[in-house]
Amino acid sequence: MRRLTWGLLLVLCACSGTPSSGAGTNGGSSAAGGGAGGSADAGNPAGGSAGSAGVDVDDDPDPELGEAEWAELRALAPDELPPPPADVTNAWADDAGAAAFGQALFFDPRFSGALLDGDNDGTPAALGRKGETGKVSCAGCHVPENGFSDTRSLRRQISLGAGWGIRRAPSLLDVGQSKLLMWDGRRGALFNQLFGVLESEVEMNSPRLYPAVKVFENHREAYEAIFGPLPPLDDEARFPHLKAEETGCLRLDKDNKCVGVKRGAPGDGAEFDALAPEDRDAVTRILVNVGKAMAAYQRLLSCGPGPFDAWVHGDETALGRAEQRGAALFVGKARCTSCHSGPYFSDERFHNVGLRPGVVGTVFLGADDPGASVGIPLAKADPLSSRGAYSDGDDGRLPDEVGPGLLGAFRTPRLRCVAERPSFMHTGHVGSLADVIDFFDRGGEQVGFPGKNELVPLGLSARERADLLAFLKTLTGPGPSAELLGPP
Ligand code: HEC
Ligand code: HEC
Repeated sequence: MRRLTWGLLLVLCACSGTPSSGAGTNGGSSAAGGGAGGSADAGNPAGGSAGSAGVDVDDDPDPELGEAEWAELRALAPDELPPPPADVTNAWADDAGAAAFGQALFFDPRFSGALLDGDNDGTPAALGRKGETGKVSCAGCHVPENGFSDTRSLRRQISLGAGWGIRRAPSLLDVGQSKLLMWDGRRGALFNQLFGVLESEVEMNSPRLYPAVKVFENHREAYEAIFGPLPPLDDEARFPHLKAEETGCLRLDKDNKCVGVKRGAPGDGAEFDALAPEDRDAVTRILVNVGKAMAAYQRLLSCGPGPFDAWVHGDETALGRAEQRGAALFVGKARCTSCHSGPYFSDERFHNVGLRPGVVGTVFLGADDPGASVGIPLAKADPLSSRGAYSDGDDGRLPDEVGPGLLGAFRTPRLRCVAERPSFMHTGHVGSLADVIDFFDRGGEQVGFPGKNELVPLGLSARERADLLAFLKTLTGPGPSAELLGPP
């Protein structure tokens, strides 16, 4: 569904441009980088000056690192990066067998219903053609070779599954560190996140009943070895079998929302609602277990230590002078650690940074995304939450109060391996890391989003912006081992 209305005008005025088509470790800048900050992408100044166009080559001062800075830097790079904290909601969180099963499921597209949006045109930027079924797997939007980000969808910003979503797919590296998930915190446990994907008409479009039957048909042995006997889902009188093209939503409206009911989902007034109450519970329980296995797999995905860690641990040659100055700025003048703190560079809280959206993919994102002010109440109301009957425990992660500061606030993204992301921010409309730094330098925007921007302008020089950029690229580690990058 193409909706290039006045948003196109906005993008032209805001010069947010096209995202970099190759924002990899060494080439983050593109035409979109544009200004002084952008040009510095060229420098990977190991041992040398920032030395790129627009930056004075003599402007190569010593890094200013006092004891206060070192204390902050050591907090970002402890001797060992901590593994994901225990997940009390999931009794299988650290079970190797469950993780292997979850890995198989992560790459399996057979759970998905029909592709609905006409932008599904059979090109490599789409997962198939409109009307086709069985095309969307988790790996379709979380591409393993690219830090489990979406480098596949057209323009590498927001994702095209069955339809277009409204936010960028975050990298799944180190996702086990986060308890409140999604940009807006609307998922309070990694195991229940699966339900959003299945039930979304723009992602897998295959709510509950259909994928439970697929688990029975395609994964029965592996499932039962971990979670015990499945109910008799081959009994079609008890568990109706929807065809792939019947499950979920059949048509999207112009706002990418489902027209009519989603068959197989709670509230369908049809197959799911007609199940006996204990069978509704049984179907839900199967997918809860599948979600727990997938969570066990995702907890294994990590970026790992990068040159920055080696430098903090004593290897003086691991970072060049510009990168070291960038590290000092990150914890000092630029105040990045007021939110990007801890070994994974996130306080795991929600902040409003004054982000005005633009056109992404082929869709204009509305400037009214309320973020965590709506997301966290949704997580609390979810019957599948950490407080509910399907959770194996509750560590009090869901907040009691939802304060006004959560309006337009999004979770601070983790920054390890950040240079490998295809685009930036929850909107995906910021095309390069240099542009992200320019954004923070000017203190974000003042209007065009809900809530109150927490940022203040930083007044960084071109050289300082280049230094910060050089620093962010030193956070790239080896990534997950090769055997985690495909089906087991
Ligand atoms: C159509 C694309 C698409 C597919 C398919 C998809 N995701 Fe995502 N994923 C996203 C987007 C977009 C977000 C962020 C949405 C938001 O925050 O509103 C996301 C967020 C997540 C998050 C939260 C990460 C964090 O740091 O908070 C996890 C975990 C995740 N996805 C796992 C999965 C799993 C497991 C599957 C398969 C069952 C899957 N995704 C399938 C696009 C996709
Ligand atoms: C007030 C808290 C706060 C401060 C201060 C802050 N950030 Fe962020 N940062 C965020 C939040 C929140 C986002 C995500 C915003 C969104 O998408 O809506 C973000 C996004 C980012 C991203 C994009 C990551 C991605 O995956 O899209 C980068 C890179 C980044 N910040 C680096 C920095 C740097 C460098 C500094 C210091 C100059 C800084 N941040 C200061 C909270 C903060």
